[in-house]
Amino acid sequence: MQTCEYCLKIENLTVAYGKRVALENINLHLSKGEFHAVVGPNGGGKTTLVKAILGLIKPLSGNIMIFGKPQKEYLKENTIGYLPQTHSTNISRVPLKVIDVVLMGCMGYRGLTGYRKDVIKRVEKIMDMLEVLDRRNNLFDDLSGGLKQRVLIARALVSNPELLIMDEPTVGLDVKAQKDFYTLIKKLREQLNITIIMVSHDVGFVFEYADTVVCVNKRVHLHTKHKDELPKDFFNRLYGYDVKFVDHRHGDPDA
Ligand SMILES: Nc1ncnc2c1ncn2[C@@H]1O[C@H](COP(=O)(O)OP(=O)(O)OP(=O)(O)O)[C@@H](O)[C@H]1O
Ligand SMILES: [Mg+2]
Repeated sequence: MQTCEYCLKIENLTVAYGKRVALENINLHLSKGEFHAVVGPNGGGKTTLVKAILGLIKPLSGNIMIFGKPQKEYLKENTIGYLPQTHSTNISRVPLKVIDVVLMGCMGYRGLTGYRKDVIKRVEKIMDMLEVLDRRNNLFDDLSGGLKQRVLIARALVSNPELLIMDEPTVGLDVKAQKDFYTLIKKLREQLNITIIMVSHDVGFVFEYADTVVCVNKRVHLHTKHKDELPKDFFNRLYGYDVKFVDHRHGDPDA
């Protein structure tokens, strides 16, 4: 049993693509068991930060600790649930490695019946939580964008990760689907007792639903729990234009 209160401790992290520095001297401590949102302008380095946490890119310098362990050590023994960013509203890219594709052959034409009963039970429990169990026999390609996202989250959760990272999962969803999505994520966090890091451009939603908000634009510009703590014109400076908050409970402009 871990006793570490932090899910993530990042110290002096710098990441570059060739000569272009994408993240510069990032320091970030994220508590365990909370819903953390990462916001910031396009090209600000949000996906780069996620990939660095997942060990998918090698930083120039810095140190990452995950649940109290050095990143390499943690990743050797644990899986982080990951929903990669897709660049289209037609979400059909499933993050499969070649070995995953080959391994699927073990299932044979009988599909899930090739798995042990306890595995199927766990998978069904997760699917039920994400409200996609009744779609189990649908073709993935035939599902709506929102349902596809939930299926992919179920996929990321079946390995029982302590940490789930989602990179812009609400892209392409309408406002109602976005609201449902955030409500579901909050429920998931409570029921599974996991830490969630979610990259998003939904500034209004994240301040309503997330426990903390991290603003990244090459550096970490803000790490806060309340939008009242935001300096005036903060988003204007960060994004280069004025960001209006919409209170999604009532649909009225909030600030
Ligand atoms: N594979 C790559 N090779 C070279 N440059 C890259 C690569 N990936 C990202 N970059 C650059 O690094 C910077 C940060 O990119 P990143 O994708 O992390 O931003 P982001 O905040 O996720 O943006 P978005 O909101 O558009 O998803 C950008 O300037 C981008 O052009
Ligand atoms: Mg990105």
